[in-house]
Amino acid sequence: MSTQPRIVLIGATGYTGTLVAGELAGGASPFVLTGRDSSKLGRLARDLGVAETRVVDVTNRGSLRRALRPGDVVINCAGPFTDLGEAVVAACIESGTHYVDTTGEQRFMKRIFDHYDRAARDAGVVVANAMAFEYAIGDCAVAVAAEGLATPLPSVDVTYAWPGGAAASSRGTRRSMLRVLREGGYMYRGGEWRTQAVGAQRRTVRLPDGTSRAALSFPAGETLSVPRHLEVEEVRGWIVAGRYAAAVMPLVSGVLPSLVRLSSPVTERVLRGAPDGPPEEARKASRFTIQVEAAGADGARRAVSVRGQDPYGLTAIIAVHGAMRVLESAGTRSGVLTPAQLLEPAAFLEMLAPYGLTWNEHSPRAA
Ligand SMILES: NC(=O)c1ccc[n+]([C@@H]2O[C@H](COP(=O)([O-])OP(=O)(O)OC[C@H]3O[C@@H](n4cnc5c(N)ncnc54)[C@H](OP(=O)(O)O)[C@@H]3O)[C@@H](O)[C@H]2O)c1
Repeated sequence: MSTQPRIVLIGATGYTGTLVAGELAGGASPFVLTGRDSSKLGRLARDLGVAETRVVDVTNRGSLRRALRPGDVVINCAGPFTDLGEAVVAACIESGTHYVDTTGEQRFMKRIFDHYDRAARDAGVVVANAMAFEYAIGDCAVAVAAEGLATPLPSVDVTYAWPGGAAASSRGTRRSMLRVLREGGYMYRGGEWRTQAVGAQRRTVRLPDGTSRAALSFPAGETLSVPRHLEVEEVRGWIVAGRYAAAVMPLVSGVLPSLVRLSSPVTERVLRGAPDGPPEEARKASRFTIQVEAAGADGARRAVSVRGQDPYGLTAIIAVHGAMRVLESAGTRSGVLTPAQLLEPAAFLEMLAPYGLTWNEHSPRAA
């Protein structure tokens, strides 16, 4: 058996996992596909012409531990991470296996930062959450926007605009979003993370296409990651919303967690009957903008606007790139790292250009 480090994909049979598996099958690194359902896993392996598979249910400690080898790197796509992710992080650290995931769940990310950084350092293991469309691109765009600005930065704002995103998201993303709406999230101010209900605040943003749109506060991962690599006083996450949602959400944001909790048996039943995600053509056509605005201590301001399409296809590329980066830099770094700490931010955005990502730096536009 080869002792060359491998990429171990967890949740390979899901919507995102299947795209990651496709990326791995087209690359040169040794890898193994894992899933909890052996027949689904067998079908995927046959479709991709892949030999090495293993049944792993992350709720079964034994099956998880048997799949991990010191020096390997896991790509975890088994969500919701609030329910399933922590056991995988803990098992990876215990076995000396590096860890990368596609989570977009801010509270889960905070738990990993708060509770596993020391253990990961002691074990010489890298743990990197959110190596995905959300939030690797935004975290790296903030690092680029902040270059040359005087610190401490008084504020950083990150805005996501994904028109039709609700319809273009996978069943797994919807499940994860329900966890986010139920748990609420954090914004960063004055050296600490403060809880904030989703949609509690509203502001108007000017997008690169010149339009002014209403945006709602949203627990973006950058509010956790940016203070870890930049000296900053305030970090806020926003999501562009339709007129109705922008008017109603600030009024109901306080009761939203209870509403989501009460309706979860019904929503789960609806989700079970829903398709696993958008068909390929719709997935590839789905467009997004991420705009970051950073203020410097001397009053200077810089913005970076990123535009792209196919968030799930990009996620697969980003997750594999992140895993490769971990393997290349093995032994030189350890602990829980943000995307901007693991990657070289500007080079990372350039790496995504052949996949349709464009980005430019400019002065922030008045809304
Ligand atoms: N941050 C971002 O930009 C971004 C982008 C894409 C995805 N994501 C996140 O990635 C996660 C996956 O998304 P998705 O679209 O692929 O969802 P999905 O299609 O529902 O896939 C979930 C995967 O988890 C597996 N799973 C569930 N319970 C498991 C267990 N106990 N043991 C092992 N595997 C288990 C499922 O296995 P089965 O196939 O057997 O059901 C499936 O493979 C979600 O949390 C989503 O929010 C985030």
